[in-house]
Amino acid sequence: MAKLIVANWKSHKNLEEAKKWLALYQGSPAVQKLLTTEVVIAPPFQYLQLVSESIRALLQTRVAVQDISPFPPGAYTGEVAASTLNGLDVWYAILGHSERRKYFQETSQQVANKVDQAVQSGINPIVCVDKDYIRTQAAAIAPEHLDKCIVAYEPLEAIGSGHDEPTDKVAEVVAEIHKVFGKVPVLYGGSVNDENIVEYLDVTDGVIIGTHSLDIADFLNIIRIVVENNHKK
Ligand code: PGA
Repeated sequence: MAKLIVANWKSHKNLEEAKKWLALYQGSPAVQKLLTTEVVIAPPFQYLQLVSESIRALLQTRVAVQDISPFPPGAYTGEVAASTLNGLDVWYAILGHSERRKYFQETSQQVANKVDQAVQSGINPIVCVDKDYIRTQAAAIAPEHLDKCIVAYEPLEAIGSGHDEPTDKVAEVVAEIHKVFGKVPVLYGGSVNDENIVEYLDVTDGVIIGTHSLDIADFLNIIRIVVENNHKK
């Protein structure tokens, strides 16, 4: 699997800002040079179609949602059911992000139900965990879906704080996740930037970037560094 760089826009950007970001992304020489790395753009739901259409011609860029409903399609006002995303080229779903657990009281069981819905709709689940609930989260997920998960290790204190976790610690947690989930791809998220990304990509299968994905110049600088580093190898 290619290394993933997930740009999590969270609940940011109006339409004009989203269009500007995408125009500069599409035109970037660094993006054209992506070979062994895949960029995954995770916009708010309202921009899914816009993002999917904007990146269709780009080889190494895909789309993720930041959440999905734990329910199938039906009478669940306000929810976005996984199967209703068919046709929008949604490849991944970020599930159980710590902000959803904190502000929306999402439980590991609800996250496991979301994993079911994603897998049934052919969407790859990216399940976010912190150290204390790796086992609880894995235990809630249907055993036959465990090896379909991509797991994102996101230490709470590192998210949006500028306090990135030392890579040796991250490597230890990656090993623990492998023990519990099996040999699944593991990402790291939490204050990833242009100075630390290369180190994180050495010990993981990819990263989730929040803050430094919002400004396109900042994000393209990160992509450029990853591309240059790949060429050196
Ligand atoms: P951050 O967010 O890059 O702003 O720390 C990462 C995340 O929440 O996935």
